[in-house]
Amino acid sequence: MAPDSPHPVPRWPVALVTGASSGIGAAFARRLAAAGSDLVVVARRRDRLDALAQELTAAHGVRVEALVADLTDTEDLARVEARLADPDRPVDLLVNNAGAGGHGAYASLPVADVEGMIRLNLLAPVRLTSAALPGMVARRRGGVVNVSSISGEQPIPFVATYAATKAFLTSLSESVHDEVRDQGVTVTAVLPGFTRSEFHDRADMGRAIPKPFWITSDDVAAAGLAAVARGQAICVPRFSYRLLVGLSRHAPRALVRRVAGMVGRRT
Ligand SMILES: NC(=O)c1ccc[n+]([C@@H]2O[C@H](COP(=O)([O-])OP(=O)(O)OC[C@H]3O[C@@H](n4cnc5c(N)ncnc54)[C@H](OP(=O)(O)O)[C@@H]3O)[C@@H](O)[C@H]2O)c1
Repeated sequence: MAPDSPHPVPRWPVALVTGASSGIGAAFARRLAAAGSDLVVVARRRDRLDALAQELTAAHGVRVEALVADLTDTEDLARVEARLADPDRPVDLLVNNAGAGGHGAYASLPVADVEGMIRLNLLAPVRLTSAALPGMVARRRGGVVNVSSISGEQPIPFVATYAATKAFLTSLSESVHDEVRDQGVTVTAVLPGFTRSEFHDRADMGRAIPKPFWITSDDVAAAGLAAVARGQAICVPRFSYRLLVGLSRHAPRALVRRVAGMVGRRT
């Protein structure tokens, strides 16, 4: 952080955010920089990361390191793991946000696409959490935010792999949260509903979703950072989505699957 920063003691001196080149990740980066955190921003598009770094340094006087990496690539992922595990440059908050959606009848999907989604949405946050957590526990200080989804709360026919990756991520986050909560470290799963970002255009999804369902990327980042500050295991931004999650947990599984499948097919 620059000496003349308006934030002498940021809550998270250094944060690493994956998928910071757009949407929810960029919103996390902006909020963290505004609170005085130095940043490591990770994604594939260098031009976006460089522009974000310039914007945040100019606005808030924070240091921003752009780490260009394709998180589905083993060597690129290893570079991000090494950055997180570097004892000389500790990272206090890891935001595992990079992810992608997709849809289609499972039997018609190329297995390479299924594997790519598992690598990005599931294996990358798993490996990055494993890289970051031992140092955080040793320092008795740190946070991990896993951007999961309400899609992980039930099986979703036609969005099967995406829903399954997010179910795994939420479950892992909750378990590890309880393992490390007494060691000064918080793990928080953030479960957004439909959020304005580049996500649905990339996945060719979401056109049938009515306007009132949408929330902003900044809403998600604000709720996620408040939740990790409170030491929460799970955060579902917006009351209406908390209600929906509560209902889906208590309704008969077959009914939930049917309704989710209707939405999955339409999206
Ligand atoms: N939008 C929603 O409605 C919604 C709802 C629930 C959960 N989520 C979750 O929120 C997270 C962020 O999504 P978003 O809505 O902000 O979508 P987005 O605008 O498409 O952002 C996705 C981010 O992930 C990065 N990314 C994608 N593939 C990557 C790869 N192979 N390696 C490294 N980075 C990669 C992208 O950057 P590059 O293209 O530059 O690599 C981008 O920065 C995801 O985990 C998503 O599952 C979204």
